[in-house]
Amino acid sequence: MVTKVLIVDDEVLIREEIVEFLENEGFICVEAENGADGLDLLCRDFEISIVISDLVMPVYSGLDMVNDAQSAIGKVQDLEFIIVTGQGREKEAIAALNLGVMDFLHKPIDLEHLAHVVRRAEELVFLKRESREYKIALEEDVQLKTMEIRKLLDNVQHAYTEALECLATAAEFKDPETGNHISRIGEYAQLIAKELGWSEECQRLIRLAAPLHDLGKIGTPESILLKPGKLDFDEVAIMKEHSQNGYEILSQSKQPVMQLAASIARNHHECWDGSGYPRGLKSREIPVEARIAAIVDVYDALRSKRPYKEAFDHEKTLSIMLHGDGRTKPFHFDPELLVIFQKVHSQFDEIYLKRVD
Ligand SMILES: [Fe+2]
Ligand SMILES: [Fe+2]
Repeated sequence: MVTKVLIVDDEVLIREEIVEFLENEGFICVEAENGADGLDLLCRDFEISIVISDLVMPVYSGLDMVNDAQSAIGKVQDLEFIIVTGQGREKEAIAALNLGVMDFLHKPIDLEHLAHVVRRAEELVFLKRESREYKIALEEDVQLKTMEIRKLLDNVQHAYTEALECLATAAEFKDPETGNHISRIGEYAQLIAKELGWSEECQRLIRLAAPLHDLGKIGTPESILLKPGKLDFDEVAIMKEHSQNGYEILSQSKQPVMQLAASIARNHHECWDGSGYPRGLKSREIPVEARIAAIVDVYDALRSKRPYKEAFDHEKTLSIMLHGDGRTKPFHFDPELLVIFQKVHSQFDEIYLKRVD
């Protein structure tokens, strides 16, 4: 690309001399007879990359033009200024250098020296342009890479979510608690977590972790899991082992979601009043994630058909949760969570109905 040079001087002869010389050197030249016209041209013609300007001109000085051009277009355009000054104007010339002017020349102009300075300016413009273009290309590249990484992370997260769902499904495979039970459990748990003011990330984690609460049932014999009648003492003891078994499987992983799932698996049968198992923890000794899982698991179990019971509707389930029956007692649950459940109970019903078995 041929470099375009603007020559600003009120003396027409000087302008013509410079233009003729630079055109012979292979530059394209445009002219202005004062700083105001020069600035006007600069604002319209973005191909100009070098300005050679007289310092003292009527109307509007070269210094004013440089100053205004810097603030108006200097930041968006790769421009170099060369100031031409008469004898005794060194002070102004130094002020011009401080403004970012590349160099200054004395009148009468030594054309060979001018050619040398203009070539240097051309090189500087080229370098500036190149570094700006490189920066833009780099930014675009970083943006593209960031998008790719985000996509990859999304894929990994998606795969991870699916793997967890598969694991939960495997756990429920031999269990009468069917697949929809596990996906509903995640949704109810997220709802409670949201009401508790948990961050979106923590809500996401409990949504993934809660469905794994009964993973330990993988090790429970079907004869016990599917027994329609009441379990005897020994069978109850074997059934109860699923909490600890689930914990042992899930705690192998150091991933936050698996740690959360391990805690839920181990503690989801603990009761607020200390009557639960496996450790008989009570109130806040029970991790909150397990207290959440306990309340949502019981709600869904009551809504669902089980070998030992029929499915109950929402009203009956709500009444059992809040007032108890022979088996479920309100004091099994964290009272604060029970209040939240009572507040959002209709959303529990909606979640159930959306994914009814
Ligand atoms: Fe369980
Ligand atoms: Fe369950």
